[in-house]
Amino acid sequence: MTKIAVHMTGGIAVYKAVEVVRGLQKQGHEVRVAMTQNAARFVGPATLAALTKHPVLIDQWAATLNGQVPHIELADWSELSLVVPATANLLAKMAAGLADDAVSATLLATSAPKIVVPAMNVHMWNNPATQRNIAQLRQDNVMVMDPATGMLAEGYAGKGRMPEPAAIVKQVQDYLTNGPLKGKTLVVTAGGTREALDPVRYLGNRSSGKMGIAIAKAAANAGARVELIVGSVSVALPHSDRITVTQALSTSAMAAAVSDKFQTADALIMAAAVADFRPAVLADQKIKKHGDGTLTLHLVPTEDILAKMGAQKRSDQVVIGFAAETNDLLHNADAKLQKKNADAIVANDVSEPGIGFGTDDNAVTILRPNQAPLRWSRQSKMMIAEKIVALTANLLKVGD
Ligand code: CTP
Repeated sequence: MTKIAVHMTGGIAVYKAVEVVRGLQKQGHEVRVAMTQNAARFVGPATLAALTKHPVLIDQWAATLNGQVPHIELADWSELSLVVPATANLLAKMAAGLADDAVSATLLATSAPKIVVPAMNVHMWNNPATQRNIAQLRQDNVMVMDPATGMLAEGYAGKGRMPEPAAIVKQVQDYLTNGPLKGKTLVVTAGGTREALDPVRYLGNRSSGKMGIAIAKAAANAGARVELIVGSVSVALPHSDRITVTQALSTSAMAAAVSDKFQTADALIMAAAVADFRPAVLADQKIKKHGDGTLTLHLVPTEDILAKMGAQKRSDQVVIGFAAETNDLLHNADAKLQKKNADAIVANDVSEPGIGFGTDDNAVTILRPNQAPLRWSRQSKMMIAEKIVALTANLLKVGD
């Protein structure tokens, strides 16, 4: 089941998009619809609201119950965006990054994969401006379905007809089941581990789990089966039939879960912030104040999960770690790459304001053995996650 946002724009073919919505629902997907004002001239939003059991997004300025910004809410909700039909105007807006209505703004704001289904008059399709926009969109990783050739609404034949709804639904299904990581299993860790001091206290860290969970979602979208192992997280866990969640609060519990799942997996992505130390003794009763009230904790190192998996990995397995640094980012991250025998390290400077722990954005540098560092500037964690998944597919040599 995938959460699909169907975006409708104002061409006559939009009446057939209603059938696409039905077809996607029959495949078990949850569908929400956004439409332009012009699309709403052809098809009533009430029809689509009744079919999807969700309000249709037409007006970016409409009041919402919980005060959320409507196009951002839909953009974040969607796991796949399908534009059906896509007019020449919408293609131009997408190619230029314009966002002046509910549909174009949602499409600009989402990091979900996008499939567009153009439908228009043959002359509009053949216009060099449209062809330029299509080429740009393909370069931007947008999947563009080729229009069919046949009778147009104008009464003459040509290329520009929208493919039949069944063909569009099949295209979506093919994409969802044939992602680059189809048949692969990824172990992804997320959140922070906690080390108990006594029955009520623990040592923990600020990790929210956002980055690891975004990676799990992106990997599932790319067709992988994901074993998501979570420590303490402060965001919602994903619901997907491709993601299995295992809770592992302490470092030793996470080490055991990773070790178990990694044996039969293709890749491990250690996005969790793992505690480096644990109390040497776990008090079985609440620690009381004594003497002058000070307390000295004796800490011992925890097991380094990434280093252990890096040392054990088979030649067909890929291990990717993170490096959270506050200083000497590249130097420290490079040392981790070598020490932990990782195939890549995602290094982030957690001292930089607005990125890192708990934030929605990240900016990272990718280090790989004997290769120049790769810098991904500030963007949403979901976009970084998609790039990490593409990197994983690359390292797994998918397609070779
Ligand atoms: N990691 C791990 N097990 C540990 C500590 C860290 O598997 N006990 C993993 C993290 O999930 C991350 C990578 O190792 O992918 C680097 O973690 P980080 O905390 O940045 O580095 P440390 O190895 O802890 O080194 P240092 O404390 O010196 O920065």
